[in-house]
Amino acid sequence: MVPEQDVLTVSSIWSQLAQRAKQEKSLHLADMFASDKDRFDRFSLESAGLLADFSKQRLTDDSRDLLVKLADERQLKHWMDALFSGAEVNCTERRSAKHWFLREPADTAPAVHEQLQLMEGMVNRILRGHWRGVLGDAITDVVNIGVGGSDLGPLMAAFALQSRFPEEGLTRPRIHFASSMDGSQMSQLLQELNPRTTLFLVSSKSFTTLDTLHNAGTARQWLARGLRLDYDDTSLLRCHFIGISASPERMSEWGIMPNNQLLFWDWVGGRYSLWSVIGMPIALTVGMDGFREFLAGAHEMDEHCRTSPWKENIPVMLALVDVWNINFLDISARAVLPYDGRLKHLPAYLEQLEMESNGKSVSRSGEPVEYNTCPVIWGEVGPNAQHAFFQLLHQGTQPIACEFLMTARRYTEAVHSGSVRELDAQHALSNANCLAQSRLLALGERALDPELALPYYKRYRGNQPSTTLVLDELSPRVLGALLAMYEHKVFVQAVIWGINPFDQWGVEMGKIIATDMLEVLRHPESGANLDSSSLALARHVSGKQQ
Ligand code: F6P
Repeated sequence: MVPEQDVLTVSSIWSQLAQRAKQEKSLHLADMFASDKDRFDRFSLESAGLLADFSKQRLTDDSRDLLVKLADERQLKHWMDALFSGAEVNCTERRSAKHWFLREPADTAPAVHEQLQLMEGMVNRILRGHWRGVLGDAITDVVNIGVGGSDLGPLMAAFALQSRFPEEGLTRPRIHFASSMDGSQMSQLLQELNPRTTLFLVSSKSFTTLDTLHNAGTARQWLARGLRLDYDDTSLLRCHFIGISASPERMSEWGIMPNNQLLFWDWVGGRYSLWSVIGMPIALTVGMDGFREFLAGAHEMDEHCRTSPWKENIPVMLALVDVWNINFLDISARAVLPYDGRLKHLPAYLEQLEMESNGKSVSRSGEPVEYNTCPVIWGEVGPNAQHAFFQLLHQGTQPIACEFLMTARRYTEAVHSGSVRELDAQHALSNANCLAQSRLLALGERALDPELALPYYKRYRGNQPSTTLVLDELSPRVLGALLAMYEHKVFVQAVIWGINPFDQWGVEMGKIIATDMLEVLRHPESGANLDSSSLALARHVSGKQQ
């Protein structure tokens, strides 16, 4: 067990930070840059193929130093050691959180690598065209059925890495994702796919999630009908379903054949599971060599985080900057803005990683917290967001922190072969927009001309803080490092706030109430005790179905 922490707001460093924030609130980033030519050098860090520029955050050397002291006061070193030693950091579920262990080399994590090898066998059979459907056809389409962590991570990373192919001689199948319980993705997919050549991955840590089990049941019925087989036919199950879960018993109960089961463990949180066999869609996208590079990049970030002093530590500084914004500058929203369209699904992945982890209002000891924790996080591909919600970032009433992401290298091979020079120009255009927007948000209209006298409706007040993350390239290795960086950042914030980032009790009660509501939808008279709104809506919907 790891010890509890004292109340945060009574700490003297917390009060000093509050004091500092009062003094610094009136500072404008335009002045901070004008008076300090070395600001970028002192507020940027580089490691594992990533550059993090914090210089456009409303941070001075003094506030940064105090934040670093706060990390010490909150015993960050102790908690980091606890995480990396496998102690029970998830206090409400009495579990360790060893997602980092999934990135350890084979000699330290043999059981992890045993499962990876099993996955490798399956991945290579599929990529070589040796995995056959029940009627002998090679697999052309793989559908990942899962939700939350069993969907968002694999979807985001597989989409991000599409331009990297498996080794020569291997053919990537088309990879699809079905998560939503209403069946809309399944209904679309099943119209397009051929049951003879489709393989389903049923991914669920618990193997009890109704969304996933219903989608999997629909797939099974569709296959049985299309292939004219029985629902329980063992060759149908053997040739068309792989199960990925921490519960072999439940997989077997559902019908997943023992040789088609890939396992991971209770100590891997769902939203931290893409490094395990849950990452199979990523391995199918880039091949196993690529998947191992992805793990290696994350491991490099683990080492950076474990060993670097706080001030030079990218995840720690990201976390502390967020704490500064949220708790001292009253900024309670953050926009995630990738300027590389391949990172399109990153905002949704981070919404779960950050908000499901740190969307908490009680401390580890069960006391209500007296300060804000996780902000609202949302995002969109940057260039598209410019034409949608950037107006609010520039001229709205709320302070909002932004996180810009850009890639330094892109389209290298295509450009060298001379085939698509235009794409290189598009990459430069996108990066130029990324730099322009972060500059304008920071400096306001002074980014263009300090002497400008604009009418009020054309003014840009600026002083909206942002961090820019530059990836050397969007390779499996650098993506691995980026995602591990976010995971550690979330942990560091939870340590500062004294909350448990590894449980998610807030999503449980809704599931129970939904089961009751299903009954009310079928028989509205059974809902007499409900509130008038819920009952009337249930009656209305049921009435429309008559
Ligand atoms: O309901 C929330 C949640 O438990 C997430 O934490 C998790 O990623 C998701 O559901 C899916 O869970 P499972 O992988 O067990 O199906």
